[in-house]
This record gives sequence, structure tokens and C-alpha cells, in this order.
Amino acid sequence: MGKTKLITSIDEMKEIVKDLKLEGLSIGFVPTMGYLHDGHISLMNCSKKDNDITVVSVFVNPIQFGKNEDYEKYPRDIERDLEICSNVGVDYLFHPSQKEMYPEDYSTFVVVEGITEILCGAYREGHFKGVATVVNKFFNILKPNRAYFGKKDYQQLKVIQRMVRDLNMDVEVIGCPLIREKDGLAMSSRNKYLSPEERKSALSISKALFEAKRRFEEGETNPEALKKLIRDIISSYPNTKIQYVEIVDGETLKFKEKAEKGDVIAIAVFVGDTRLIDNIEL
Ligand code: PAF
Repeated sequence: MGKTKLITSIDEMKEIVKDLKLEGLSIGFVPTMGYLHDGHISLMNCSKKDNDITVVSVFVNPIQFGKNEDYEKYPRDIERDLEICSNVGVDYLFHPSQKEMYPEDYSTFVVVEGITEILCGAYREGHFKGVATVVNKFFNILKPNRAYFGKKDYQQLKVIQRMVRDLNMDVEVIGCPLIREKDGLAMSSRNKYLSPEERKSALSISKALFEAKRRFEEGETNPEALKKLIRDIISSYPNTKIQYVEIVDGETLKFKEKAEKGDVIAIAVFVGDTRLIDNIEL
């Protein structure tokens, strides 16, 4: 497998993209904040399958973190990420500096309204504005034909799809399956924060979601009953605090009065100090 090229300058990346386009090659893009895991690798493999060239970005985006969130302690290891990208056969790892991405007088932001005020957006002020802005910048720099987002961040995927539709952007946004550990825990770079005890408690999240889906398939369509079931399971484990659990339409993310096939149960839970999100499609 060829070695992945690490690019840190925006201008150099743009020059490379220009040449790739002149050669008529298609570009697949996997945006990440690094500390790559099997969830990211599955996105890279999707991109490699569909495109001539795959570019992965690693950038811990300061503007999508709230004041009391984990920007400073977010795990970073670019050497490890580069090795993973090389093993998978990624062509370019784009790792720009914060200074170049957001110079001191930076002043332009992208706001997607209507689907960012609920779920995570209700608790993480400015988060999706930060995500939409940085993804927009990456799309402008990399001009990808396709971009790959994991369904673990379900709301993020829908926000980016809405932005691309509304702004007539020329990129296909592809949602890829949520990847779980063998025991059910949704893969996340933040799982690294969990102590062994907390990790056991974190398993309650997927357990509760699977059980709710099972009940739905048996005929329970009352969102309140399904949400209560989830709350009961999770709160029976130590150190868990549910931030929200909602049943929403899979496309519009509107709350549902009656659960239907295609809806999504979305949840955010604090396990100790670590905030985890997960979801399941009905
Ligand atoms: O999902 C993530 O890792 C981030 O939100 C993203 C899409 C890379 C933007 O910073």
C-alpha cells in the first residue's frame, strides 16, 4: 500500500486538488477530528471504493466546541493517524493548522436553521454552526465529488446534507453505517475517556436502544413508552445521566407523536464526565 502524503498547507492542498481535477480523477473526502478508529476506517474504505483518490482531514475544530467542552483534552496523535491512513491506502491526509484555518480576523460562518435547534443543538450552543462552517471550508479547499459521514453523528449528517442542498453545493454527501464495538458500544474517539467501570455503564446505551427497537418491532409505537423503557435501562447503571432521548423523523428530525419505520431514536448520555451520543434507526 502506498504511503499517505501528509499535507499541512491549505495552498499546497489546493494545488494538488487542481492537478487531480485536471487529470479527471474523482475525489472522496472523509472529514475527521483524528484519533482514528474503525468507524473512520469504514468511511475511508467506502470512499476508496467509490473514488479514484481519497483525502482524510484531521482537524480538531475549535469553533464547534463550547466553552466548557473538551477541546483542550480531545485526543490527538497525528503520527498514529498517518500510519492508519497509510495502512488503509488513503492518498492524502490533510492536517491544516488552526492559525491557517481561522486567522485572527476570521469572520464568516454558516448557519443551518430548522434542524440545529433540537437534540445536540439544544445543548451545544454554536456546535452545528462550527461544524457547518468547517465542513464548508473543507469542501471549498478539497472540491470533493463525494464526502462520507458516519451515522453515529446522525444530526450532523442531516445538517450537512441540508447545507449542501440549500447552498447548491456540488458534492454528494453519503451517510455510512454506525460502527459498534463487539459489545455494542458505538465507536467514538471519546470512548478513550472512559474508565473500565464507566465503560461498563456506557454499554447500557446500546442495550437500551436495541431493546427499544425490539419493542417497536413487537408493536409499541408510543414514543413516551419507548423513551421510558430506555431511561429505565440506562438509569439502572451507575454514573449515567441522560441529557436527552428523542424519537424523530429520520429526514426532518421533527419529534414524532407515533413512532414509525424510518424514524430514529437519538440519545445523549453523560457517563461520568464523558458525553456520549448514539442512535438507532427504526
Ligand atoms: O464528526 C466530526 O468528527 C466533526 O464534527 C467533523 C465533521 C470532522 C467537523 O469538524
